[in-house]
Amino acid sequence: MRSTDSNSWHPASWQSRKAAQQPTYEDPEALARVVSELARLPPIVVSWEVENLRERLAAVQRGEGFLLQGGDCAESFIECESDRIAKQLKVLLQMSLVLLSGMKKPVIRVGRMAGQYAKPRSADMETREGVTLPAYRGDLVNRPEFTPGARRADPQLLLRGYERAALTLNFVRALVDGGFADLHHPEYWDLGFVRHAQLREAYERTARSIGDALDFFESLSGKRVHEATRVDFFASHEGLHLLYEQAQTRYIARQNRWYNLSTHMPWIGMRTAALEGAHVEYFRGISNPIGIKIGAAMSEQWLQELVTTLNPQNQPGRLTLIHRFGAKDIEKSLPAAIAAVRRTGHSVLWCCDPMHGNTETSTGGFKTRRFENILKELDLAFRIHADQGSYLGGAHIELTGEDVTECTGGARGLTDADLQRAYRSQVDPRLNYEQALELAMLIAERGNRKP
Ligand code: PEP
Ligand code: CO
Repeated sequence: MRSTDSNSWHPASWQSRKAAQQPTYEDPEALARVVSELARLPPIVVSWEVENLRERLAAVQRGEGFLLQGGDCAESFIECESDRIAKQLKVLLQMSLVLLSGMKKPVIRVGRMAGQYAKPRSADMETREGVTLPAYRGDLVNRPEFTPGARRADPQLLLRGYERAALTLNFVRALVDGGFADLHHPEYWDLGFVRHAQLREAYERTARSIGDALDFFESLSGKRVHEATRVDFFASHEGLHLLYEQAQTRYIARQNRWYNLSTHMPWIGMRTAALEGAHVEYFRGISNPIGIKIGAAMSEQWLQELVTTLNPQNQPGRLTLIHRFGAKDIEKSLPAAIAAVRRTGHSVLWCCDPMHGNTETSTGGFKTRRFENILKELDLAFRIHADQGSYLGGAHIELTGEDVTECTGGARGLTDADLQRAYRSQVDPRLNYEQALELAMLIAERGNRKP
């Protein structure tokens, strides 16, 4: 029998379970030294921010808001730069503005940012031209170059990743607090390389109407609309590397609970959601709002047990189910998943990841995704939730604020032949800035439709 007695939980209790997707380190003592150093460092986030996010997600779960979760598939150390971070923040803020204006609901912004450095892989080893080396598992673990030195798991990278996560979030907080995100001046959030005329025009109209509405309200009331104009921003990453997550797990006496303070909202990836596995054991003991990726291979019973194991008290805002079935399978899989969760009597926040079920290989050999499939999956997700009397409360998107060419389609019709121009991802293909804004406009339209 499985021991789910919460008294037996502690931040290292996962170690008695099978932990999938963990790297192998050659020097366990060096690893232990790094983990104990990580455990002494101050946290990146604090418990009241985490609680604040949980309360907001509880409101989203009730249909009173929308979650926009997005960012790189994997952040990289080399790209921990001010310009890139600002662009990433900007595209998420602009998308949220479009969603807010279309849906007329608060939008909760959660970046795949400030700690998204560890990646699950389908195979432990990679072979190229007869040479076999450990797979690249993200900058938290090793480096992407195909050499024995680069692919060796290096414990020091855990510290470097922690520091970069802190630097990233520090800069994001400063930008947000310093007025970068002031909704009175959305015109400051210039449109960079958006060259598609209709898209530009539609965004500018949205921004103007929000600015005008705020001015109008404030001139009537004689007050600044603080609540509406203050933008909050939260961080999330896949809680994959369990020693890293464990090191930042703190007991907060005032709350009488444990929190993972390396991020606001960690999630369990699809490859590490085994019920008996180490990740589920670790996640059940932390009080953060958490996500779980849900794929077509998950049985109804598995899904139900995840929901009851990870949220036994049925606490609102605790659990976000991020479904990623693919445009092909969503019609088959989502209605059954909604019904299965309903039978547990528990409430969850449903979020659609239209990226990870729609990955394919282009004619030129690039890992890519088609904009039309991403949009189709989102469309179906809105429709199916509405048909089932459920609420689709969020979208989880891999995107970048830059002019990359990794996904095909969109208003400017990128083709397979365009992919080689600016393909930068080491892992999954992301929507570029223009495609991301376009998607936000299309989501806003759909989320606003009356059933
Ligand atoms: C990811 O979010 O980058 C990812 C690996 O997703 P999933 O666990 O859904 O495959
Ligand atoms: Co990905």
